[in-house]
Amino acid sequence: MNAPAGKMTMEQLVSLCKRRGFVFQSSEVYGGIGGFWDYGPLGVELKNNIKRAWWKATVQERTDVVGLDAAIIMNPRAWKASGHIDTFADPMVDCRSCKRRFRTDELPSPESRVCPECGGALTEPRMFNLMFKTFVGPVEDEASVAYLRPETAQGIFVNFDNVLTTTRKKLPFGIAQIGKAFRNEITPGNFIFRDREFEQMELEYFVLPGTDEEWHQRWIDERFNWWLSLGIRRENLHLREHSADELSHYSKRTVDIEYDFPFAGFSEIEGIANRTDFDLARHSEFSGRSLSYFDEPSGEHITPYVIEPSMGVDRCFLTVLIDSYAEEEVRGEKRVLMRLKSELAPVKVAVLPLSRNEKLLPTAERVWELLRPHFMTQFDDAQSIGRRYRRQDEIGTPLCVTVDFETLEDGAVTVRDRDSMEQMRVPVSGLLDALREKLPSL
Ligand code: GAP
Repeated sequence: MNAPAGKMTMEQLVSLCKRRGFVFQSSEVYGGIGGFWDYGPLGVELKNNIKRAWWKATVQERTDVVGLDAAIIMNPRAWKASGHIDTFADPMVDCRSCKRRFRTDELPSPESRVCPECGGALTEPRMFNLMFKTFVGPVEDEASVAYLRPETAQGIFVNFDNVLTTTRKKLPFGIAQIGKAFRNEITPGNFIFRDREFEQMELEYFVLPGTDEEWHQRWIDERFNWWLSLGIRRENLHLREHSADELSHYSKRTVDIEYDFPFAGFSEIEGIANRTDFDLARHSEFSGRSLSYFDEPSGEHITPYVIEPSMGVDRCFLTVLIDSYAEEEVRGEKRVLMRLKSELAPVKVAVLPLSRNEKLLPTAERVWELLRPHFMTQFDDAQSIGRRYRRQDEIGTPLCVTVDFETLEDGAVTVRDRDSMEQMRVPVSGLLDALREKLPSL
């Protein structure tokens, strides 16, 4: 797969992710399983940093949003009310010869009746529900069927009244949640772009009916700026309005934020929907419990409208890696680096003794010990110092601290900056402050 100049190909990305411990195929020793991925030691750090950045902007820094962590398995009637049992489905066809399954919208032409893999005849399109089914309790019958949530949003809607009464929030206010979602995608693919198990970060923002369109626009702007604040380049982002025939069953208007992926062109990384009062009204109707809001100025109970910015952590992870990847020529040699914002970098500081000389190691270890409580660090003493700088550049470590023979004399270390490669001497006594100044914390 080719990529435009300066952009990473999918092969390069998958290989870097595996080689450096960002992402592994799930249960790889058994040959893997389609649509499931494991995040390695560096991957889990990046993922946690992405989630922390979202939570900080969405919950911590605002006065009008609170958090929630709801269960993955809900009473199945919730999915009847939400419309997912009846409508959360993709049309698909099977090949009668090779038995492969395709989404009809992914066939080379919608009217083609011939398998794109083997040329065999295809079945008529059938709707395929994307929810994973399981059984709750010891008996596997219809009455014990339950679903793994295909979106985190419904856990928020069914808790609307609980949150309202415990926090005494007034409209407009929001409830945010980060958590796993599951979809039995017919064609998972493009690495972690379309998975069967993934993580979502969703905000349901409740507003007075009539103010919904204005709030929708505010959230579109807010969310676009959040992607820019992660360091994603503006020219690689754009907004796309859903046409009437692609709107979800609950939506009045949806705008997607899309990223220009080297392997797929502009594709959705976040959707911002005006869900109207659909969900709260349906849960009120199906549960028999009122999920309304008493509006003091008008003296009446109303059902709030909902603006929903919804994004996937895994797609954000992919976007961040691709967008920060860079190749540079330094003194005739190629340097690969991740220009990650320091808030997102899996490792903030690497401690590198110039060599494995026994005089240097104890001092280097003491410096490492000094930094560990404050930053995510790595200690690396294998191979030449140049190779070690390159290894840290490749995983996006913003700062390297080198302990050399002069350190033993003057008590100072060298701090090297990933992007500029500039080096400065800093006394160990002032090292923490110097690093803190360069590394804004989350
Ligand atoms: N609650 C609304 C909702 O779930 P969606 O557009 O289906 O809307 C929202 O999903 C976001 O979740 C997407 O923008 C994408 O980032 C992420 N997402 C959806 N399906 C995904 C999948 N199969 N794999 C990875 N991420 C996915």
